[in-house]
Amino acid sequence: MTLLEIKDIHKSYYMNKTEFKVLKGINLTFDRGEFVSILGESGGGKSTLLNIIGGLDHQYEGELIVDGTSLKNASEKKFDAYRSQTIGFIFQSFNLISHLTNLENVMVPLEMTDLSHKERVAKATALLEQVGLKEHIHKHPNQLSGGQKQRVAIARALAADPDVIIADEPTGALDSQNTTEILEILQKIAEDGKLVIAVTHSQAVADHGTRVVHMVDGQIDYDKQLKPAYPAPTGPTAKKSSPLSFMSAFKMAMQHMRYDIKRNLLIILGASIGIFSVILMLGLGQGVTGYINDQISSQVNPNTIQIARNVTRKQIEAGEQGNLADKDIKRLNKVKNVTKVEKGYYTNGVQVHYQKKRETVQMFQTFNKTERIQDIKTGTKPKANEIILTKAMAKKFDKNYKKMVGRTVTIYVNAISQDQRPVQMRQDVKVSGIINSGTEAVTYGTLAKMYQAQGLTFAPNFAAVTVNKTQNVKAVQNKIKTYSSKVNGKTQKDYQITGVGAILDSINTYLMLAFYVLAGIAGISLLVSAIMIIVVLYISVSERTKEIGILRAIGARKKDIRHLFVSEAFLIGLLSSVLGAGIAGLGQLVVNALAQPLTHMPIVAITSGYVLFGIIISVIISLLAALAPSRKAAKLDPIEALAAE
Ligand SMILES: Nc1ncnc2c1ncn2[C@@H]1O[C@H](COP(=O)(O)OP(=O)(O)O)[C@@H](O)[C@H]1O
Ligand SMILES: [Mg+2]
Repeated sequence: MTLLEIKDIHKSYYMNKTEFKVLKGINLTFDRGEFVSILGESGGGKSTLLNIIGGLDHQYEGELIVDGTSLKNASEKKFDAYRSQTIGFIFQSFNLISHLTNLENVMVPLEMTDLSHKERVAKATALLEQVGLKEHIHKHPNQLSGGQKQRVAIARALAADPDVIIADEPTGALDSQNTTEILEILQKIAEDGKLVIAVTHSQAVADHGTRVVHMVDGQIDYDKQLKPAYPAPTGPTAKKSSPLSFMSAFKMAMQHMRYDIKRNLLIILGASIGIFSVILMLGLGQGVTGYINDQISSQVNPNTIQIARNVTRKQIEAGEQGNLADKDIKRLNKVKNVTKVEKGYYTNGVQVHYQKKRETVQMFQTFNKTERIQDIKTGTKPKANEIILTKAMAKKFDKNYKKMVGRTVTIYVNAISQDQRPVQMRQDVKVSGIINSGTEAVTYGTLAKMYQAQGLTFAPNFAAVTVNKTQNVKAVQNKIKTYSSKVNGKTQKDYQITGVGAILDSINTYLMLAFYVLAGIAGISLLVSAIMIIVVLYISVSERTKEIGILRAIGARKKDIRHLFVSEAFLIGLLSSVLGAGIAGLGQLVVNALAQPLTHMPIVAITSGYVLFGIIISVIISLLAALAPSRKAAKLDPIEALAAE
């Protein structure tokens, strides 16, 4: 049966709506074992015809029949399979993929077969040996002469074992010696029972074949048999082929990245900066928050919180004192995980006199569990009629501040009586100890007695609530916040949480907010990375237009081309984020080492979650960046792509 038949092919190009007829009714049949030369003047439509026969061009009138099956209105998929299984292309300008070695070039069509990797290497090696390039298989195409390049191209065309070899001016760029050798190879291919169709404008070249088809002005002038066709192989030449796998596309992307490693490393470095800054900022947020919490916890006991009655300004103006009643203390005692509730009282502007020196304490409070016992470096906590001084205050009284312990100071406390009369109370107290942090304090009982001695009522204005475990503090706070009652018809919370512990939560919230903002700003550099990747991929698409054309001619699907660029973007995203995380880790080491003398603890704390987040974000951004460029690449017209410089 006829292998190939073309029926009444008409093809026109349109230039500004002017029709330009190139092929004007071509009818030909071809068989296995033929070596057909299509001879004609330059511009006569030979390449146009070859592109139609090769399944690259579908825009024509007429019919292409392969092994009895018409390809009229065939699907894109059918044409892809036709190019990969039935056709092997050889071009005048070789069209090898420069970033692949010769062996890899020959292996490209083999990636679309179901041979194993080993078999592919063996077959490609054998083909290159067959065309006399045994020593050159691991070189790149640009390390070969023109004749050698064309041999690689022939080996590639033969790789998928196609029935038809199509060669467009295969010797056009070669000297006479190489021309003869290439023609001999082509003749051998025909002798093996394949159909070879070679286009030429040289009569001498055409004389090599078994048949010459002469084209003039888009029509066939004559069709002359020179010698009988070579015997066709007996039996069917069944072949199995499979589309390019994602892994193959991925591998090709890797090969491409490796070829221009310097440039790609720069791109990866550039793209890594965004991820680096995001991860570092998140780590800094985590570290600084931890540091500040640690600082606060070192000032106050983290397990004890201060509770006061929640009163509005209106209530205070109406004479509400905001004191805690016994029932409040009882209620707080009943909250789950609470181990102790101490009555407390704080007041402003207390003066401490020692000999001639007078000092004012802004926040004076009764001693309670919020003070850290371990911070009492000298002496003990106050008992009745005793006071604990801060180190700062003790130093003001005596340079040798430790000597203050055991001495007597006088405190002056101001209060307002029920009839709005100012009252000043005075009390001699003994210094029980010196505390490094916190405030000056006497016991609740000491202060209560002073008030009662003046006939003033005294009730706690805060309670120090101690929780069994730090982890339960938050739950206790939340529970206390739930108590409410109706005040003047409105529901109002009964208590508020005061003291340093209360602001810990809000400090954390603000800190995290601040660092999310910083990370967000760092995210802008991610955006820059994304734009960079888009630009790089677009450049890559235009640089690799020819390669795309070659791959399409070999039978790669649009999808495969897309996979190629998506893989490359994925690799850039992955590698740059791993690098970015690495640099962030290094930055963490450096910053923490520099901060160590000041903070005595790490200030950057990158978690594995942040690293994972960074890597995932980077890969997603890269894949998104690849969308448009890879689509553009996939949509390129293979013939135009092949014509690209
Ligand atoms: N894509 C195209 N758009 C417009 N005209 C084209 C295109 N490709 C080829 N042509 C024109 O069609 C004619 C035949 O071209 P071609 O088939 O390449 O000739 P040959 O291979 O015989 O030299 C030429 O005049 C050429 O300028
Ligand atoms: Mg041509």
